[in-house]
Amino acid sequence: MKFGVFTVISVAPVLAHPSWYHPSSLPWAPSGPNDVRGPCPMLNTLANHGFLPHSGKGISAVDTVNALNSALNINQSLAQFLFDNAVTTNPAPNATTFSLENLDRHDILEHDASLSRADYYFGDDHTFNQTVFDETRSYWTKPIIDVQAGANARLARVRTSNATNPTFGFSQLGTEFSVGETAAYIIVLGDKTAGLVNRSFVEYLFNHERLPTELGWQRPTDQITTSDLSNMIDRVVNASSNASGGAALKVRQVDAHSGFHR
Ligand code: HEM
Repeated sequence: MKFGVFTVISVAPVLAHPSWYHPSSLPWAPSGPNDVRGPCPMLNTLANHGFLPHSGKGISAVDTVNALNSALNINQSLAQFLFDNAVTTNPAPNATTFSLENLDRHDILEHDASLSRADYYFGDDHTFNQTVFDETRSYWTKPIIDVQAGANARLARVRTSNATNPTFGFSQLGTEFSVGETAAYIIVLGDKTAGLVNRSFVEYLFNHERLPTELGWQRPTDQITTSDLSNMIDRVVNASSNASGGAALKVRQVDAHSGFHR
């Protein structure tokens, strides 16, 4: 994934690690009847904990930067970059906020071959789907997921979608998000240098939409930067090429910029 020029806006000073950020006192509540959630297990989680508005609505740049920093130690420019993408999913003209359900809109950021959601073609691209997730999990064969296992799981989902969904396709941005999401769970829940993550942490996040603090996960001590994400994306892409024997998988293109996808 190549990140372009970032628009840096002025934001309120980011909160330091809040004093209540402790496994035993981290607030959490599932979404209520007037709350919305979407296809991203991590943003749903942050809303459940109240790092993002619990409603899942009206999420601003400042909300995003503060939440990603307070909860996950993601730095401002990466959080701002993600917000700038998220806000494009709000259909309102000149929007300055997004909601978690805006993210459902297909082929903006949401894409086929998700790790835990069915493809849009099958009717619901945003609710956790156990069958889909079971396929993904079957490629995480050891208690520690390495980059190769992460890449294998994503590739398997791409192959299954390609074989079963007659409308299967990736936009360029969708491809980048798809690989980026595998990279993201490794660096946010695991060790970004070793490229290793505890499988139980990842499964817990997907299953419960809750940070795996009770399993021992802690907010990363090192800030997570755009170059951390970029480096991990490169490692996932390389591992995907190895797994496919260097053969690219041809998929239907949904925009003019797409090419072959690994
Ligand atoms: C503002 C920040 C973020 C935005 C706008 C965002 C957006 C999205 C979207 C639109 C999807 C759905 C893609 C699809 O499967 O179709 C997604 C999935 C995902 N996101 Fe996020 N995300 C953000 C932050 C994060 C962070 C910090 C993590 C760290 C772990 C993360 C992890 C994931 C994972 C693992 C998936 C894959 C879910 C699946 O394939 O079933 N996201 N995200």
